[in-house]
Amino acid sequence: MKFFIDTANLQQIKEAHDLGVLDGVTTNPSLMAKEGIAGKENIINHYKAICEITDGDVSAEVIATTYDEIIAEGEVLAKLHERIVVKVPMIKDGVKAIKYFSSKGIKTNCTLVFSAGQALLAAKAGATYVSPFIGRLDDVSTDGLQLIEDIRLIYDNYGYETQILAASVRHPMHIISCAKLGSDVITGPLSAITALLKHPLTDNGLAQFLADHAKAAGV
Ligand code: G3P
Repeated sequence: MKFFIDTANLQQIKEAHDLGVLDGVTTNPSLMAKEGIAGKENIINHYKAICEITDGDVSAEVIATTYDEIIAEGEVLAKLHERIVVKVPMIKDGVKAIKYFSSKGIKTNCTLVFSAGQALLAAKAGATYVSPFIGRLDDVSTDGLQLIEDIRLIYDNYGYETQILAASVRHPMHIISCAKLGSDVITGPLSAITALLKHPLTDNGLAQFLADHAKAAGV
């Protein structure tokens, strides 16, 4: 399973990359705004900076919501770097645009997906990735993980190659559950990824090993 980090923070992207387990980066307009990135040129330069850190795919989201504008914006983004994936919202013009990008060999990530029907449409349009937002479903008392299971079943039934990119991942159990359900990718904050490292028995066991080693060495 691929690990993407869901942030526009260069320091956190670098930290995840240095850990050796980073397969890509996802961003969205809110995450870019959180880093204070505004204005066309700054946004373009920031995507380029992200591409210089990671070896994996980098999702860059369009702001446009009409077909012609999504195509124009997406083509500019796709030309920035070979690893840029054009992130397109699950709306009617977005689905049409994904079909167009797919025919041109431009990678896409269909975002803001909250139902199996939307995921089916994204796959039929030829999206490279589909992003079901599991945390936001959990937030409204709906089982986000059930959606991952449903999409996996549907895609496997027909051999769709669209990769399931579980988004809005909030904590380590989301990651583990997504892995069990066969999600192709998860994207989440650095904190959810590094939380996988933690177990008190690891800490206690290591402390005991080091203490025993020091005792035997007479330190
Ligand atoms: O990038 C999309 C998604 O991962 C957002 O997550 O935590 O804002 O629901 P969140």
